[in-house]
Amino acid sequence: MNIVMKMKQDWNRRAKHHARFWIATEDYQNETVFAESGEVTAKTILSTLGLHHRNTWTALDIGCGIGRVLKPLAPYFYKLIGVDVSAEMINKSKSWLQDVHNVTTVESSGVDLSLFPPRYFDVVYSYVTFQHMPRPVFDLYLEEINRVLKPQGFLVFQIPIGRHLDAPLEDTIAIRFYEYRDLIEKLSRTGFRLSNPQHQAPTSLHATKQDVAQHEFLLAQKVNTIRPDINVGWVQTECRDQTSWIDTHMYLAFAEDCLLRGKQEEAMRTYESLLEHNPSSLEAWLQLATVLIDNGKIDQAISKLTDLTHAYPHYPEGHQTLQNLIRQRQRTTGTSSLNA
Ligand SMILES: C[S@@+](CC[C@H](N)C(=O)[O-])C[C@H]1O[C@@H](n2cnc3c(N)ncnc32)[C@H](O)[C@@H]1O
Repeated sequence: MNIVMKMKQDWNRRAKHHARFWIATEDYQNETVFAESGEVTAKTILSTLGLHHRNTWTALDIGCGIGRVLKPLAPYFYKLIGVDVSAEMINKSKSWLQDVHNVTTVESSGVDLSLFPPRYFDVVYSYVTFQHMPRPVFDLYLEEINRVLKPQGFLVFQIPIGRHLDAPLEDTIAIRFYEYRDLIEKLSRTGFRLSNPQHQAPTSLHATKQDVAQHEFLLAQKVNTIRPDINVGWVQTECRDQTSWIDTHMYLAFAEDCLLRGKQEEAMRTYESLLEHNPSSLEAWLQLATVLIDNGKIDQAISKLTDLTHAYPHYPEGHQTLQNLIRQRQRTTGTSSLNA
């Protein structure tokens, strides 16, 4: 599978499942907390720009999601455009942003900004997006940002800084960490100079956990115009169509949270969504069966566990649970017609 298609496929699936959760995993529970979290991020972007900021500016948000940050920033800019690799996120952004008139959102390729001419934006920003991309995609974006920014334009962005940490190419949710020194070098190579080096410069080479948890923004200014390397070959790179364990873990965590909040239907829907793309999550099969049983849906639980045991004939726990369930059902209904 092509890397561009993989990013689209994964983020579309997440947006369909629960866009707010995959955008702001701590602040997704309802629209109010989600909107408030957007205001906090927006304020941080404005304070990072500080005195440089002008409300006559045109700004670009890379990986805008449904527009969590675009909305509260709207009063502070002349025009804002958000791009996102996911068409689903962009669809949802239309209703989230319906009353905001100076913001446009559009689906992009996920590897370039070819939708825009050179020197179009005064500022480009991005939050909790670059961290999920394969490193070469981040590199391509830096070159493209240089191209679409006006001379002396600003880039405000968040990226985890720490000991180098990578993930397989096809992993679209793992968080990549960048060494501070490498990042400075990368920025310089792509025509940027860091404007708030004290802000992030760690005393050792590696930032503390706290720095990363705060999701601080870096401020870089375009100081040179570079000629981007059009690396089409890389963009067409194939990757495996494999699910990240972090993705699976997040579905399970979301479902557990639903159960804690008494949202059984949502938990079941989540297990179903997870199993659709990752049928090897045995935990999801068993959890789904458990919730179905708890909700009195014994036949559905039996059907799920039957599917599980067919798919994984050598999974003893699945067989055992199914047998127990069938026995329990026979006891309550007095029938013995069911076969595992
Ligand atoms: C964690 S969400 C954050 C959304 C938004 N920045 C916010 O803070 O509300 C990451 C977003 O980046 C998008 N994304 C992931 N990879 C991308 C890429 N290569 N190009 C553009 N958008 C991307 C996802 O679809 C998703 O909407």
